[in-house]
Amino acid sequence: MQNDEAQQTQSIHHIVYCSQASHHMDKVALEKIIATAKHHNPRFGITGLLVFGSGIFFQWLEGPRDNVTSLFKIISADHRHTDVVLLTKEDEYRERLFPNWDMELVEAEDISVVLEDAMHEASDPKQKSTLSNMLQELKKRSLGN
Ligand SMILES: Cc1cc2nc3c(=O)[nH]c(=O)nc-3n(C[C@H](O)[C@H](O)[C@H](O)COP(=O)(O)O)c2cc1C
Repeated sequence: MQNDEAQQTQSIHHIVYCSQASHHMDKVALEKIIATAKHHNPRFGITGLLVFGSGIFFQWLEGPRDNVTSLFKIISADHRHTDVVLLTKEDEYRERLFPNWDMELVEAEDISVVLEDAMHEASDPKQKSTLSNMLQELKKRSLGN
């Protein structure tokens, strides 16, 4: 590997989780979360993506391992969501996937496809059942609409 490449590529820790919003999330409530993230994340070298749809959050957090771990602890304890399921936790030598996004909000119309995928990938039975409950909730809600 060339020197300049070695400098660009560093060990990046990333965490992906999903969770269920505790109550209805309107645009203002979502913007508040993103504003807090954009305020704090750059100081900790954290970038990522927040996907929201049908009351379900998915978040990708990447950055130095200790910072990502501490932030995930803070986020997990946030009462605005419950049923936080850790889907991926990895160290990799590579460039960031979202180098320019302190935290970007993506709204997903049909999040059930993403949830189903995550459920099939999950090896931990507890995770599988939490994800399956989330899917059932989602189906019940869409039938009610
Ligand atoms: C789904 C979700 C995602 C969040 N993502 C972040 C984040 O990326 N960065 C962050 O600092 N806070 C995030 N938060 C907010 C934190 O849980 C916490 O409220 C915040 O860091 C506290 O900041 P404050 O002390 O300035 O109020 C998130 C909260 C939720 C519910």
